[in-house]
Amino acid sequence: MQTMEKIILDCDPGHDDAAAIILAAKSPKLQLLGITVVAGNQTLENTLRNALNVVQWLDVDVPVYAGCGQPIVREKVIAGDIHGKTGLDGPVFPPLMRKAQPEHAVNFIIRRLLDSDGDITMVTTGPMTNLAMALRMEPKIAEKIKRIVLMGGAYANGNVTPAAEFNIFADPEAAHICFTAGRPITMIGLDVTRKVLCYPEIVQRMEKVGNRVSALFVSLMGHFCKTQKEIFGWDGGPLHDPVTIASLIDPELVTTKPMNAQIDIRGGQSYGRTNCDFFNYLRLPPTADVAIDIDPARFWDVFEEGLRNYN
Ligand code: RIB
Ligand code: CA
Repeated sequence: MQTMEKIILDCDPGHDDAAAIILAAKSPKLQLLGITVVAGNQTLENTLRNALNVVQWLDVDVPVYAGCGQPIVREKVIAGDIHGKTGLDGPVFPPLMRKAQPEHAVNFIIRRLLDSDGDITMVTTGPMTNLAMALRMEPKIAEKIKRIVLMGGAYANGNVTPAAEFNIFADPEAAHICFTAGRPITMIGLDVTRKVLCYPEIVQRMEKVGNRVSALFVSLMGHFCKTQKEIFGWDGGPLHDPVTIASLIDPELVTTKPMNAQIDIRGGQSYGRTNCDFFNYLRLPPTADVAIDIDPARFWDVFEEGLRNYN
């Protein structure tokens, strides 16, 4: 019997975060210990409500914790254009009965990691504020983190500025704290997530799974793909966040390369950039396993299987 990978998913739902929750919550390979929520795609009020609506729709027993509503240093930025004014525009959910846990997300992360045998993987798919605050409040948790797997950054081009990707740009100092915590890091950046594009034929394929979770996915993509088309002219939107989860379910899915990766926190044109030394010019020790390639067809197979887990 293969042991299940224990994870905490920190996210800012967001349509692709919702897809990550779908993939994680019923995987036979993962034990989702809790979902911690952060402001990012939308305000914390919206991202928290969205996470609770998704977990209620999935009918899974996963505790949800509210975290930080603003970045550590910079002014708050949100990505309302892509995800709509609720942060999860599209689906119509039934009245929300599910409640967040009373414990703050940062305290949950600290408590759960300290109680653990060092076998918990921290997955972040939004700004890294909650994990960074936990590391600063209780530095002892660092040795208890098995690995940090983040959706964020890019060794090539950003998506908010030419230099920076949204999750890092929204809280560069938080990312810096996490990237310098001395723990193994897998950085799933735009370089690979831009290869998993949710074209209409993918949505049609997932619709054929024919359960209430595939129906949610179709509804989510109805909005997500429409805005990608309207804003960027793309027929398929990049489904960034579930790549983190898929890479844990299928370790062969993503190819990584150890690199020295540093976050630009100086505040200039490249503020929030993940400077990844792809060619090792600086001869500095690697600090992250940076994703450099992915098998998109295999990703969609993993995702379809994830939807079938709800049959
Ligand atoms: O840049 C893409 C990332 O920013 C994704 O996590 C998306 O949900 C937004 O948070
Ligand atoms: Ca996200």
